[in-house]
Amino acid sequence: MTRILVTGGAGYIGSHGVLALKERGYDVIVLDNLVYGHRHIVEDVLEVELVVGDTQDRLLLDNLFATRDIAAVMHFAAYTYVGESVTDPGKYYRNNMVGTLTLLEAMVAAGVKNMVFSSTSATYGVPQEIPISESHPQNPINPYGTSKLMGEWILKDFDRAYGLKSVIFRYFNASGAAPNGLIGEYHTPETHLIPLILYTALGKRPHLSIFGTNYPTPDGTCIRDYIHVSDLAIAHVLGLEYLFKSGKTEVFNLGNGNGFSVKEAIATAREVTQKEIPVLERDRREGDPPILVGSSEKANNILRWQPQYPDLRDIIAHAWQWHQNQ
Ligand code: UFG
Repeated sequence: MTRILVTGGAGYIGSHGVLALKERGYDVIVLDNLVYGHRHIVEDVLEVELVVGDTQDRLLLDNLFATRDIAAVMHFAAYTYVGESVTDPGKYYRNNMVGTLTLLEAMVAAGVKNMVFSSTSATYGVPQEIPISESHPQNPINPYGTSKLMGEWILKDFDRAYGLKSVIFRYFNASGAAPNGLIGEYHTPETHLIPLILYTALGKRPHLSIFGTNYPTPDGTCIRDYIHVSDLAIAHVLGLEYLFKSGKTEVFNLGNGNGFSVKEAIATAREVTQKEIPVLERDRREGDPPILVGSSEKANNILRWQPQYPDLRDIIAHAWQWHQNQ
């Protein structure tokens, strides 16, 4: 069985990646430092081996690669709070950039030549045109986006120098939960829009804050492209198989190509949950671009990837099913 090392496999998107790999017959080892990840999801729900450790721990990585016959790495491990990255940039550069560099150096030393890398639409910054394609200039406006862009640059240089091949995915807004109800979004602290809307619907929070109502968008709130986490996960398996087959480094956007404002997301959640969801309008949150909507034509053409759940109602319904059971 082909064995894949999944870093960050105890986190939100990583755990869905593990599930997709398992369903496709891969053997998986998760490496996660458990700062934000959840041990029980890996061990009890996904029933996969968990190595607790950090991508900056070169000794641990060398040992893993030397002893475990790993064919490729899916590298999800990263800190992803846009707001926190503005106030604590060192944390982001250390974990996301230094961690990625250390992992890649260990891969080169061990002769492991394939990586699927989680990048982000946050690398584009404020878009000059919508939908954003992969050739759009990358000018991130927060350290999170910059730290991921650095990862992309390192990967391109490592391909040139050492022949290490990668598929780089720039995600738009991952959301939803596994349709089978097994796993879902579970961040501590939670800062993401859709889970916070649903906590409010469940009465766990008194209201939802809308960050900024004076953006240059039709209703004044930020527009995002919400993409189902299970669709992202399947793209990762297709990306991995593309790497094995073609041996080419490529970058792909992963989004639905449809934008929804914060207010539209709330309205959809009210429909799905049949709950009131009180809101408070607040100031803008630092580091938020007004609009991010992506074109995923390239992933569609080359990987034959097509989102199975493009409808925001399904995305929110799956998340709602999961949150109600927690
Ligand atoms: N928002 C609110 N109220 C909240 C939370 C969020 O109004 O309580 C707004 C934000 O200001 C933003 C939108 O909802 O306009 C979406 O915010 P999220 O925090 O859910 O997501 P972000 O777009 O900030 O970031 C997410 C991921 C990043 C990724 C990015 C790509 O967290 O890792 O999507 O678009 F890079």
